[in-house]
Amino acid sequence: MNNMGIKRVLLIMAMQEEAKPTLNSLGLKRSGLLNPHLDLVFYTGNYRGTSVNLVLNGTCKNHSVDHIGTQVSTLSAHLGIELVEPDIVINAGTAGGFISDNAAVGDVYLSNPYICYHDRRINIPKFVEYGIGFYPSIPTIRMAKELGLRTGVISTGNSLDYTEKDLEQMRNHKGVVKDMEAAAIAWVCEQHKKPFLAIKAITDLVDGDKPTEEEFLQNLNKTSEILGKQTLRVVDWLIKNGIDEE
Ligand code: ADE
Repeated sequence: MNNMGIKRVLLIMAMQEEAKPTLNSLGLKRSGLLNPHLDLVFYTGNYRGTSVNLVLNGTCKNHSVDHIGTQVSTLSAHLGIELVEPDIVINAGTAGGFISDNAAVGDVYLSNPYICYHDRRINIPKFVEYGIGFYPSIPTIRMAKELGLRTGVISTGNSLDYTEKDLEQMRNHKGVVKDMEAAAIAWVCEQHKKPFLAIKAITDLVDGDKPTEEEFLQNLNKTSEILGKQTLRVVDWLIKNGIDEE
């Protein structure tokens, strides 16, 4: 795609606190609920002549917390894509990193070359690969190099913690970023044939010795600020450069 190619961008984010700096940096305004039956919130704006839209998962009425994980993410992605008809879908969020990949809190990764699941183990021929997913990311190596960001395989599951089996799956599939949404959104994008990338800022170290929930909550605010700045740079880069071929 050439640099005239990106007219509409769709961002998908999970938590309100994660999204605040990104909404501010891109100057997006709340437009309303995406669907009257659902808690998904839609934000819109214009950045350098490009329509920039964001779906936020919204708040669970039963538990008064943000919706997170893969269940809500498929809906956010599907309804967002139908409404916006974007040229690119970006999942921006926070995630766990690995000391074994030399990650530090505050590092920012772009998905490359694929996104997979670590908690869908189905030991039946062909279902093994189906469970893992291997959904494509657009190539992000040049973008990451020019923006000073990192790249790697993002691995998704529905738990903040992990089992030994999850860890084994992540190792086997070269996962260096652990999140709870990217693979679900990547699957919807594959179904719709929409280019996808994830940008993930690291709040906690999966193979470190601190309890994940404590480290996550401690670093959520400052990491979300970093995420907001870097997401703006990524959108800016894509508007200028378009989507790289392989
Ligand atoms: N989001 C932030 N940290 C995470 C982790 N360790 N696992 C899954 N999702 C996360």
